[in-house]
Amino acid sequence: MNRKSFILKTGVFIGVCACAGACVLPKGEQVEPKKEEKVDFTIDLTETKFADLQKIGGFIYEKLIIVVRKSTSEYLAFNQYCTHAAGVVQFIPQNNHLQCPVHGSIFDLDGKVIQSPAINPLKKYKAERNGNLLRVFE
Ligand code: FES
Repeated sequence: MNRKSFILKTGVFIGVCACAGACVLPKGEQVEPKKEEKVDFTIDLTETKFADLQKIGGFIYEKLIIVVRKSTSEYLAFNQYCTHAAGVVQFIPQNNHLQCPVHGSIFDLDGKVIQSPAINPLKKYKAERNGNLLRVFE
């Protein structure tokens, strides 16, 4: 294969690949970067699915957030996914920390890492109780 033939064949190959790539998406559609929505929701503590929050040390998951009842009046909320490799963290009331069962990362109740392999903190949200309603928000 001479140089001219190589360039022609390579150019045709690249052109076919570019066209195939451009034709994958439906006409007019674009891939948008995923925007993070603000967390702001309210749960009714009388609902059966939130019954674990009736006791101190209990926790539930709602809308990808782990909500923990720390004391009679204090609730905490964090992103439920471990920052190492997205394991779902659990609250360990005996140790007063959050732990990932996948590789053992531990986070304090501010979300800070106290045991690796995770290096980034858990995102923490506000949680305010008003009667039987608990609002979780940023
Ligand atoms: S996914 Fe949580 S420690 Fe690895």
